[in-house]
Amino acid sequence: MASKVIMAITGLILVAFLLAHMFGNFKMLLPDDGLEFNEYSHWLRTLLYPALPEGVFLWLFRIVLLASVILHMWSAFKLRNRARQSAGSVRYARSRRMERSYAARTMIWGGIIIVLFVVMHILQYTAEVLRFGYDEGVTTLAPYDRVLAGFSEWWVVLAYAIAMIAVCMHVAHGFHSAFTTLGANTSKGARKLLKALANIVAGLLFVGFMIPPVLILIGVIP
Ligand code: HEM
Repeated sequence: MASKVIMAITGLILVAFLLAHMFGNFKMLLPDDGLEFNEYSHWLRTLLYPALPEGVFLWLFRIVLLASVILHMWSAFKLRNRARQSAGSVRYARSRRMERSYAARTMIWGGIIIVLFVVMHILQYTAEVLRFGYDEGVTTLAPYDRVLAGFSEWWVVLAYAIAMIAVCMHVAHGFHSAFTTLGANTSKGARKLLKALANIVAGLLFVGFMIPPVLILIGVIP
């Protein structure tokens, strides 16, 4: 039970981060050549300064995020092992497998794809180790120009779209599951509402995250 609650709470922390990140990315859509977006990126690094030294709040935030990801994965593997041990006969396991939705069955694989994506994403946009779309010899760009460079390549947009499908499927099942663990799934009506909410949040994340890459690729964001 403890593993399930940890998984639910850390999952909801990560969904809250995704929603905040998605809204932050909308600053890319302002017609100001990235001024607000770059300022926002700088603001993230100076949050709570001078109460705390510059960048400390961002690191605390990163530690909370990383701890959430680790605990989320740890509880997922723990629950999976426990389910395997108690599954009993192969026949029972097979019939259980068929009852579960596609999204539910692919949670572990979806999670692994998302982790690989996040590693690539941080190497690309935070660390600038992967410099997709940069001009020859350029090693660093302002945050707004980093995003423009990356999404000027069609295959980067495609890779992001695939990752966003994984995020969307993971959230669609996970959001509903988390609230069920936390005791909100108390009736048929509540289940319907939770499922609808989960699909809305997942759909919003997919569309919201894909708007900037697609607009950059087709040249609407120049
Ligand atoms: C198309 C969608 C996305 C775009 C355009 C985007 C853009 C960015 C950019 C520009 C940064 C660097 C911010 C900075 O250093 O100022 C960043 C950081 C990050 N993004 Fe995204 N992102 C997207 C989707 C996602 C998704 C789906 C996830 C998670 C599943 C994610 C997780 C992160 C994380 C963990 C960081 C590092 C934050 C840090 O500096 O510690 N991003 N993103």
